[in-house]
Amino acid sequence: MKISVIGTGYVGLVTGACLADFGMEVIGVDKDEAKIGALRAGRIPIYEPGLENLLKKNEQEGRLSFSTDIPAAIQGSTAVFIAVGTPPLPDGSTDLTFIRQVAGSIAENLNGYKVIVTKSTVPIGTGQLISSIVRAGAGRDGEFAVVSNPEFLREGSAIEDFLRPDRVVIGTGDPHALRIMLDIYSPLRNAGVPFVTTDVESAELIKYASNSFLATKISFINEMAELCEALGADVEVVAKGMGLDARIGNQFLHPGPGFGGSCFPKDTRAVASIARASGGRLRIVEAVLEVNDHTLRRMLSKLETAFGSLAGATAAVLGLSFKPETDDVRESPAVAIVRALVERGCRVRAYDPAAMEACRPLLPEVVFCVNPYEAATGADGLVIVTEWNQFRKLQFEALRDVMRRPLIVDLRNLYKPQEVADAGLRYVSVGRATVEPAAPDSAGDPLARRAVKEAP
Ligand code: UDX
Repeated sequence: MKISVIGTGYVGLVTGACLADFGMEVIGVDKDEAKIGALRAGRIPIYEPGLENLLKKNEQEGRLSFSTDIPAAIQGSTAVFIAVGTPPLPDGSTDLTFIRQVAGSIAENLNGYKVIVTKSTVPIGTGQLISSIVRAGAGRDGEFAVVSNPEFLREGSAIEDFLRPDRVVIGTGDPHALRIMLDIYSPLRNAGVPFVTTDVESAELIKYASNSFLATKISFINEMAELCEALGADVEVVAKGMGLDARIGNQFLHPGPGFGGSCFPKDTRAVASIARASGGRLRIVEAVLEVNDHTLRRMLSKLETAFGSLAGATAAVLGLSFKPETDDVRESPAVAIVRALVERGCRVRAYDPAAMEACRPLLPEVVFCVNPYEAATGADGLVIVTEWNQFRKLQFEALRDVMRRPLIVDLRNLYKPQEVADAGLRYVSVGRATVEPAAPDSAGDPLARRAVKEAP
């Protein structure tokens, strides 16, 4: 079957590569000539583990190609997957300009029955909008069906998520379109992946509801972390104790600087705005957003307290992407934290394994370093913001040797507090007591250590 995937951003590239790997004949289309030129030359615009190999393999085997010719791609395909950007507008609603443009192109090039699939996260009602644009543009004879097939890909494990998803959601009112979709996804059906088939609106809402619920778990544990600090409890143990209840589950209960990225902030704002536009309110989702903003501000006070004063200090920041295994810095808490540090007169030396190029234009005041130890040189504190695996085994002695003051502020709780204190560094983390290093003259003496409660 011939499929075109319109939009060669994150979702489009992963979808195109994986559908080609299922044996479909896929053409990836984008109006951005530079992007298509680069893809044709084998250059991948994003960092995603496994993507480059999958693209290469399927291109070499003749199942995947790239083009800027949107009309030809539409005319040549049975299914058109829409994976264009749906950026947020200032009021939290979604900008559907690109979706409208694609719907217009499909209308102009409707030369036979087509299944039009939305892969991008789109507000409830977008399926209807696409239908009406295509119907109006193509005239009464145009044959097509609209399908909502939301993606649940996580950056950094997108290929794995596509090929081994928890579920596939297909929303359509057209039985023929459903058969085509089930055929496209037959490798996953044969592998026993659960399928949820429903109407377009329910499918559209499943995506928003899922992301909002996951964001709720994060804001919830971040609030609990704040309470733990006030009460002297340990949020890691609290999260473990909660997560062992199968009804709660242990995932998405990691406290930190708040959620970021291209999905959670955008989708929670969008669904809150959709609810308001429909005359209702999503009080929980609105609170989740408020807690997320508060969490980031709380991290800044934590830094201020830990450093004593930020003005004139030097901070070594580890991790700039919004999460590990990606170079994506969209709505990254790390970028917000670095900006706030700089605003408060703090010098920032930063290291990230993948996101430094993306950050150079955004953070001109920052000194970008080649590894954590260079970043730590002369610093008054080391701040871990993104939990890249390579930050989980730092050489504390080497850090202490190069830092001006032996302080680690770990916003991802990567270490056992005592382990850091034993190595002679003060350790501030999230939802746990701050631990002071053993006094230099009594190193190794456990009685010399003391745990002090976080200042509120
Ligand atoms: C998310 C959804 O997981 C995915 O299903 C959807 O398709 C797109 O949005 P992604 O944005 O790639 O994926 O990242 P994810 O791993 O879910 O993390 C999102 C944010 O939440 C990150 O900033 C992360 O640091 C934060 N997070 C996640 C926490 O702070 N604590 C957690 O326990 C989990």
